[in-house]
Amino acid sequence: MHISVVGSGYVGLVAGACFADLGHEIILVDNDQLKLSALKSGAVPIHENFLPELVARHRGKRLNFSGDLSEAVRASSAIFIAVGTPATDQGDADLSYVESVAREVAGAINGYKVVVEKSTVPVYTSNWIRTVMSRNGAAPDSFDVASNPEFLREGTAVTDFLYPDRIVLGADHERCASLLREIYQPLTSGDYYRRQHAIPKPDRAHIPPTLLVTSAKSAELIKHASNAFLAMKVSFINAVASICESVGADVEQVRQGIGSDSRIGPRFLNPGIGYGGSCFPKDLAAFRAVARECGYDFRLLDEVIRINEEQRHLFLRKVRSALWTLKGKHLGVLGLAFKGGTDDIRESPAILLIQTLLQEGCSVAAYDPAATERAREVLSSKVEFASSPYEAAAGADALLILTEWDEFATLDLHRLYSKLQYPIVVDGRNLYDPQIMTAHGFTYYSVGRQTIPPESQVVAAAAAGRKSKPKNR
Ligand code: UGA
Repeated sequence: MHISVVGSGYVGLVAGACFADLGHEIILVDNDQLKLSALKSGAVPIHENFLPELVARHRGKRLNFSGDLSEAVRASSAIFIAVGTPATDQGDADLSYVESVAREVAGAINGYKVVVEKSTVPVYTSNWIRTVMSRNGAAPDSFDVASNPEFLREGTAVTDFLYPDRIVLGADHERCASLLREIYQPLTSGDYYRRQHAIPKPDRAHIPPTLLVTSAKSAELIKHASNAFLAMKVSFINAVASICESVGADVEQVRQGIGSDSRIGPRFLNPGIGYGGSCFPKDLAAFRAVARECGYDFRLLDEVIRINEEQRHLFLRKVRSALWTLKGKHLGVLGLAFKGGTDDIRESPAILLIQTLLQEGCSVAAYDPAATERAREVLSSKVEFASSPYEAAAGADALLILTEWDEFATLDLHRLYSKLQYPIVVDGRNLYDPQIMTAHGFTYYSVGRQTIPPESQVVAAAAAGRKSKPKNR
């Protein structure tokens, strides 16, 4: 199948490379010339497992890059729109990029085409695309508009695309549904998974994936509702974590207890400093705005968002209770990305927290395995960027853990202890067992679990044969 994918951001680039791996002929279209020439020369602008392999495998063969949308449309049966839908100041999605693509596609139509929304868009967008295309001269029987939402996560985008839990095809007509079925046939038939060079199956993947054919409006809602539900799970456990702290319970035990109920499931129940990224914050605001426009006041979403913001304030309060005053304190920070496994810092709670700490007069030395370059562009020159967790910790009054990178969960605790000015760790991602941290001489704060007070720490540290007093700078 000849396919155009418009927009070479996260979704577009991953979808284009994966469609090529399924065996389709792909033209990836972007109007950013710099990005295009980087892609044409083999650069992969995002940090994503298996993406460099796929781009190298198909670039110049089944995966080509172009700035000419009209030409790409003429050469394709399906056009996937994967351009940005940023939030406006009012929180709803700015669909002007989608509209201008629809206009240009309409002008280039030379036979039946399926136009597919791949970007996350509010319900009714498929109707609008249809209207815009008709207004711009596309004959009604020359195209269909479908919604095929993408559920990939950053960091595991390629395997999420190729081993999805479900494929949702929102198509209002059979002709369009059958063309989309054909595109995904290598996955739904299981054929792709038998190929010698298939990207390896991740744990937990069910193959072949479930295929759901729905109306376009239902598909649009499935995407927004899925992200809102996942964000709600995160805010729910964060709220439970606050209660755990008040009553002296352990949120990790509570989480295990809740998550063992197969109706609830254990995933997306990790407490922390709140969700971030380019999707949840934007999609919740957009879904809330869509609901309001449709006459439904979705106050549950307001609360999910409020709890998420509150979570950062609670973390700051913890840093204060560990250090008393903040002005003039030097902090080591582990993590800049909005979650582990990515270099993306958009809406990263770590960045927001660092900015607040700087405003409070702290100095910061930060380390992240992938996101340093991006963070350098947004953080003030007051932040020092370290080249290892231990360098970030060196001489710090406390160490803050802000991103759930695997690397941060396996630190050499003796080495870490020897680097810090005071053995204080404030962990926003619950990467360590409090008892182990205490046994290593740390005063350890985490989320939804008790902090063992310094007095008992002296005893514990003495038992572990370690010093617990502040060290000289
Ligand atoms: C999210 C969804 O998981 C994808 O299914 C969806 O396709 C994507 O948005 C999108 O709409 O494009 P992503 O933004 O990559 O994917 O990140 P997640 O893995 O969902 O994490 C989001 C945030 O929640 C992160 O800040 C993470 O640290 C936080 N989180 C996640 C928690 O605090 N606790 C958890 O248990 C899980």
